[in-house]
Amino acid sequence: MTRLAVVAACLAGYAAAFPRLESHLLSRAAAPPQGAGALPVTPPPFDASAQLVSTSGQYAFVPPGPGDARGECPGLNAMANHGYLPHNGYATIAQFTEACQTVFGMGADLAAFLAVYGAVVDGDLTAWSIGGLPHTGIGGSHNDYEADSSPLHADLYQYGNLYTLPKSQASQLLNMQSDASTANYNLEVLREFRATRFQQSVSENPKFFYGPFTGMAVSQAAFTFIYRFMANKSSEAPEGILNQDVLKSFYALSGTNDDVSWSGCHNRIPDNWYKRNTVDAYTIPYFLTDVLYFSETFPQLNGVGCNNGSVNTYDTISVSTLTNGAYTAAEVAANPICFALEYAAADVPSLTGLPTAELGPLASVLSSATSELKCKPIAAINKGALEACPGFTLYGGPTAPVAKGAIQPS
Ligand code: HEM
Repeated sequence: MTRLAVVAACLAGYAAAFPRLESHLLSRAAAPPQGAGALPVTPPPFDASAQLVSTSGQYAFVPPGPGDARGECPGLNAMANHGYLPHNGYATIAQFTEACQTVFGMGADLAAFLAVYGAVVDGDLTAWSIGGLPHTGIGGSHNDYEADSSPLHADLYQYGNLYTLPKSQASQLLNMQSDASTANYNLEVLREFRATRFQQSVSENPKFFYGPFTGMAVSQAAFTFIYRFMANKSSEAPEGILNQDVLKSFYALSGTNDDVSWSGCHNRIPDNWYKRNTVDAYTIPYFLTDVLYFSETFPQLNGVGCNNGSVNTYDTISVSTLTNGAYTAAEVAANPICFALEYAAADVPSLTGLPTAELGPLASVLSSATSELKCKPIAAINKGALEACPGFTLYGGPTAPVAKGAIQPS
């Protein structure tokens, strides 16, 4: 599917629901809050009372205590700190799916997929932990869910810990919009930061691995989610503005851009913060358009590759070899999310060792996503193609040895 076709599909919902609004808004200013060239073409509606997210009463911020799991995802940590997820950080598929939609306006398809994948790959099939141990939570999920070259969290083999948040990465992002009065960390800013973080992993993490699912889908989502979910929506900017205060609140950051402090997992939903409108839910097809937007300026994002054990040795892995000829590089570039999801579908049986019957719920959410995108299946993957990547391991755990030759800016 071309980017244009995906955009048209995403817009169909708006046009049907708000025909007059759409034509009126077509004449708006050329520089939209989300960044030039990024969806939506016309702003979504804004409904203050429906979009305000409560941070008081039962949803007041309560920091995690001893025994409460928190992990590398600021969105999940914030929902647990505010009681939208169980405070202990352990929740069922239904709880994750509902909370992501209620608090952030995530599409039902994306929320169900993320929640079910967590339960099958890092949980007990029905529930999972937002921190946890290897095999029992996304904290232990390096290379099955968690990935290298994340926005603000560390590369596992570069820092020996995937939770930590190097100040240099936070300062770098904050300084990309250094004037607090106008700052807006939108898709245009984030695609530049995405490319920078990829290149930093190449030049600093000897074991950098950019995988078919964790790299090309999860790691990309980690960047698009920053603007798509954290941005504060308003009648003036219904797509949202992500200013410094809101970004810092969600990421548990304080201090100045050049001297950032990070308070661990005290991620907070800001007061007076407005989520996405329900007709503007962030779905898997919408996410695909953002991935294609990112790769317009940095095409390497739509391919698999790794360093070979030393920095600056990044090489691509043939997707044709990896998929036994099912996908060409051109097909992957045209629809990287199809490739990533089909790869995940083919990989999950060996990744989990579970019988087909227990994989049914994941197979079902995957197949509804891939049939919506009209993806070509992968009959069998050839994981041997990844043996050239020393950073590729099934379960790295939340801590690991720092790789020889790793560079840690701060
Ligand atoms: C069930 C739903 C979710 C799951 C399973 C999930 C899982 C994850 C995982 C595994 C990572 C690590 C990615 C990496 O290594 O780069 C991550 C990162 C991230 N997630 Fe989530 N997440 C979910 C929902 C959300 C929501 C609702 C938000 C809303 C703000 C969010 C925002 C982020 C961001 C911004 C990062 C990047 C953190 C960084 O800077 O390193 N996620 N998430």
